[in-house]
Parts: sequence; structure tokens; C-alpha cells
Amino acid sequence: MKYIIFNWKSYLNLKESINLSKIISRFKKSKKFKIISAPNNFFHLALSKNFKKNIYATQNFDLDGRGASTGSLDVSHLIENKIKYTIIGHSEMRSNHGETDKIVSSKLDASINNKLIPIVCIGESLNIYKSKKTKNYLRSQINTIFKRSQKYDQIILAYEPLWSIGTGLTPELSEIDDICKFLTKILEKYTFKKINILYGGSVNLSNISEILKLQFVNGVLVGSASTKSSFINYFK
Ligand code: 13P
Repeated sequence: MKYIIFNWKSYLNLKESINLSKIISRFKKSKKFKIISAPNNFFHLALSKNFKKNIYATQNFDLDGRGASTGSLDVSHLIENKIKYTIIGHSEMRSNHGETDKIVSSKLDASINNKLIPIVCIGESLNIYKSKKTKNYLRSQINTIFKRSQKYDQIILAYEPLWSIGTGLTPELSEIDDICKFLTKILEKYTFKKINILYGGSVNLSNISEILKLQFVNGVLVGSASTKSSFINYFK
């Protein structure tokens, strides 16, 4: 079974999010795909109330977001609203809101402590990729984010090269598989009940079937293509 996560970022308005949710809600239960949608955080309640069988993730939450914290989304708000999945460490949170690997690590702890299933994003810049330092960089991200002393429940890890997000560029298929194999290997030093490694970055209709065939890739995290019904219908 492959995880298919739609990150709708802030592309869609409520009506468009409802329309796509409607399409997903009509899919037969599948053994091949587990579909999770991450709508704009503001639309969560409206969507989850209307589409009870769909699975939704938040795109983020804030640490210490309760109380005098204008504009925050606290982990307790996710729990209260029965949200099970949350993206953390997305590159756009990192670049637009200063989220560092240390913060991602604290958010990971907060999600584990609250029995949320985190979708943790990591990935290298173009410079790092070009200088062939991707593996070293990812290893250091993993070492900062995860703790060897901790027993983790279920985690989803998304490898999203920064230079691939929204650019139409992707690593070669063999590179994606090699990196996901590498991540599988280094994650053996940590304790997980279940870990799934996903690829994200310019996934679309023309590359999805090949990416899903890769041995070490347990699914995909998709941005702009996932806002189109033609892409979503691939998984019906
Ligand atoms: P694109 O699929 O638009 O490249 O975005 C990837 C992404 O950021 C998913 O989280």
C-alpha cells in the first residue's frame, strides 16, 4: 500500500477544496493507495465534517500555540478536532516561517506525545545536490530531528529536494530510489513502530506511475498537481 498525500498548500478556495474532496470521497476503498489530503488549515473543519471518510492532515501546527498566541494553531486544536495527521518541516514553512530542524524536532516530539502521525519533510538545496553532498546533508537533518533514545510510533518521512518543489525538475528515478534506500538504512538506527518514506517534488501525471514502482518509495507527497481533478482521478 502506498501513501498518496495531497498538499493543497494555499492554492484552493473552500469551494475547490470541497469539489476535490467530493471526488476523493467517491473512490472505492483501495488496498493500493491510502489517500490523505492536506487542505488549507482554515478549511479543515468544514471538510472533515462533510467528508467523514476522507483522511485529512494539517499543513503545520505551532509550538506553544495556546493562550496569548495570536494567529497560532496549537497541537491541542488538532486533537480536539480529531485530526490524525500533520505535515511538519515543509520547505515552505522553513523558508517563509524560519522553521529549523531543531523546531521540526520539537514539533515531532509534540506530535508523538499527542498521538498524531507526523509527515516529516526533509530535503537538500540545489547547491548541496550539485556538490553531491545530499546524503551527508540528509543524514545531519535526520540526526537533528530524530532521537536515538526515543521509541517512535508511526512516522511518515517525505524526501522533498528543495530544488524539485514547484519547478518541474526531479532527480532521476534511480536517484530517488537510491536516496530512499539510504534513508531506510540510516533510519535503522532509530526505533519506529512503522516508518514510511515518501518522495515529493514535481510529482505529476507523467511521472507518478514510475515513481510508485520504485522499491524504496512508499508513496508520494504532491503539491500543485494534486489540485487538479485529472491527477486525483488517477487513484480511483
Ligand atoms: P509540487 O508537487 O508542487 O512540486 O510541491 C511538492 C510539495 O511541496 C509537496 O509538499
